[in-house]
Amino acid sequence: MDKFVIEGGRPLAGKIKISGSKNAALPILFASILLDGPIQLNNIPELCDIKTTLHLLDILGIKYNYENSGVILTVGTLNPEAPYELVRTMRASVLCLGPLLARIGRANVALPGGCAIGARPVDQHLKALEAMGASFDLEDGNIIGKCDKLHGAHIHFDMPTVGGTENIIMAAVLADGETILENAAREPEIVDLANFLVSCGAKIEGHGESVIRIQGVTALRGSRYSVMADRIEAGTFMVAAGITGGKLVLENCPLEKLGAVVAKLKAMGLKIGKTDEGTEVDATGNLSCVNVKTEPYPGFPTDMQAQIMALMCIADGEGEVEESIFENRFMHVQELIRMGAQIRIAGKKANVKGVRKLEGAPVMASDLRASASLVLAGLAARGESEVLRIYHLDRGYEHIENKLNAVGACIKRVKQ
Ligand code: UD1
Repeated sequence: MDKFVIEGGRPLAGKIKISGSKNAALPILFASILLDGPIQLNNIPELCDIKTTLHLLDILGIKYNYENSGVILTVGTLNPEAPYELVRTMRASVLCLGPLLARIGRANVALPGGCAIGARPVDQHLKALEAMGASFDLEDGNIIGKCDKLHGAHIHFDMPTVGGTENIIMAAVLADGETILENAAREPEIVDLANFLVSCGAKIEGHGESVIRIQGVTALRGSRYSVMADRIEAGTFMVAAGITGGKLVLENCPLEKLGAVVAKLKAMGLKIGKTDEGTEVDATGNLSCVNVKTEPYPGFPTDMQAQIMALMCIADGEGEVEESIFENRFMHVQELIRMGAQIRIAGKKANVKGVRKLEGAPVMASDLRASASLVLAGLAARGESEVLRIYHLDRGYEHIENKLNAVGACIKRVKQ
């Protein structure tokens, strides 16, 4: 298991290129199960979760190879079994359920694992697929689904679920008739998936809104598609500029998809704007705490909660961070406190009182975004920090230490 050793206290300056979005690439890769022809996907980030997905797709019958700066995927004979060894490391594996049922009427998918940030059930996915004609059994920790041909249905989600919306869009594009999704999630990654499917011949309207209408078609062709840039990686680097009092230019930054994040960072004192070079983030002034509540898009993303909390740890005044999406997503708090932060948790809320300086310490990464917040805290802290268990980071941030070191950070990856 690798760890990071970070020498803190260096303001970052320079340019960072934002990678393709993990959370958009994953459903688009799973959507390849639905297609007749080969696809070429560009801007796929080099990440552990992507490798796991390609490995899983290989087992399910999709061949892939890297060519011309993209990955080409071709469907062969499909196998409905997604084994636990792969699924347990990555919750997004459940996204093969909808496509497999739509394509071959069978799916045997181990119940997902992934980040330890709450119970994260898949009841909404199953309820919607049942309404479309599928039936499920749970055997030895596996979801076993079957159906004849899926049919369209009128579905109302109990809450806007990102994965649920993606799974049902993928199931509905090849179902008989029309599917209407109400209370659908509106995240930009869902819009990217829908745009990709439309480029393959799917009929989808309303993606990006809370009501999505899908007319099933009989077949989908292959296409060439470039995945959107990663808004969470971009937001994380904005905080990196902020927490080190630095100045960064982010190339390929999807600024228009970061409205809630940019509004809060500006309210804290960062200057953020477009230039010819990219998005400039200037954090050379004073910072003050704000109140933040995570919400479904276009609200403040839960995937940026840990990072903005790290920033508030060294800002003036006090602020409240409320986590309303996941019930167990404050695991970074105890670790930030080890570095000298003043944070009190009461239920879903964390009260952060800014301190002048964080102190370097050994800390333990517990999930992907929590790990990012500890790296950010380490960049700001006096002296040396060690972030243990960084395999979480490798799941979701492409070459993070190389990108940060290129703009002045001092992060060493050490084998343990
Ligand atoms: C996706 C993102 C993750 C992000 C999250 C919320 C990917 C690969 N992951 O996760 O990074 O943090 O959206 O923006 O894109 N829920 C249920 N039943 C269900 C489904 C969800 O109760 O069937 C609940 C969850 O427990 C959670 C909330 O709904 O409280 C939102 O979860 P969801 O949007 O589904 O998150 P993911 O798709 O797992």
